Amino acid sequence: MGLNLGFIDGQTPLDENEKVGLLIPTVTTRGELDEFEQQNIEEALQWVLGKKLSTETILSEKFIRNLHKRMYGQVWSWAGNFRSTNKNIGVDKWQISVALKQLCDDTLYWINNNTYPPDEVAIRFKHRIVSIHCFPNGNGRHSRIMADIIIDKIHGKPLFSWGMESLSGQGYMRQIYIQAVRKADAGDIAPLLVFARS
Ligand SMILES: Nc1ncnc2c1ncn2[C@@H]1O[C@H](COP(=O)(O)OP(=O)(O)OP(=O)(O)O)[C@@H](O)[C@H]1O
Ligand SMILES: [Mg+2]
Repeated sequence: MGLNLGFIDGQTPLDENEKVGLLIPTVTTRGELDEFEQQNIEEALQWVLGKKLSTETILSEKFIRNLHKRMYGQVWSWAGNFRSTNKNIGVDKWQISVALKQLCDDTLYWINNNTYPPDEVAIRFKHRIVSIHCFPNGNGRHSRIMADIIIDKIHGKPLFSWGMESLSGQGYMRQIYIQAVRKADAGDIAPLLVFARS
C-alpha cells in the first residue's frame, strides 16, 4: 500500500506476501495482476450499474462487502472479507465493522437531511470508507465505485470522471488524486470534490 515506487512498474514480480490468496497461479507480475483485476472490475461494473438498488441496500455492510467480492472474487480468495491484520492506514482491524456502520448511518443522515449536496455526500463517503480501509487491498478502486453508485443510484446524477485516466501507476493524475486524498485527510474535502469531476 502507499506510494511504493518499486511496485509501480508493470514488470515488477509479485513477492510471496503479495501472492497470498491469489487465485490465478500464472500471474507473476504487477502488470498481469492489474489486468486480471481490471477485467474482474469491469464485470462487476456491468453487474452493478444495470441494477436498481435502494439507499438502504447500498449503505449496508452486506452490499459493500458483496461489491468488493464482485470486483475481485475471480482474482483473490479474500475478496469481500474484511482485513484480519492492521495496516499503516485504516482503523484497527476489530473496529472495521463498527466504523463502517457509523459511516453508513452518517451518510443516511446526510441524505435525509440534505446536509451536503449530492457530490459531497458521495465523496465524503468515499474518503471515509478508504480511511477505514475495510479490505486487505483494492480499497481505493472499491471506494471510487461506491461513490459512483451513490451518485448514480441514490442521487440520479452522472458518474464521476476521476481524472479521466487510470489512477494506478505513477501518472500525473495519480499524484493529483493522492494530494487531494491527503487534503481530505486534513479536513479539506474540496480538492477531492473537484478531482472527482475533472
Ligand atoms: N499515501 C497514500 N498512497 C496511496 N494511497 C493512499 C495514500 N493515502 C491514502 N491512500 C488511499 O488508499 C487507497 C489505496 O488503497 P488500496 O491499495 O487498498 O486500494 P487499490 O484499489 O488497490 O488502489 P488504488 O486506489 O491506487 O487503485 C488510495 O486510493 C487512497 O484513497
Ligand atoms: Mg492496492
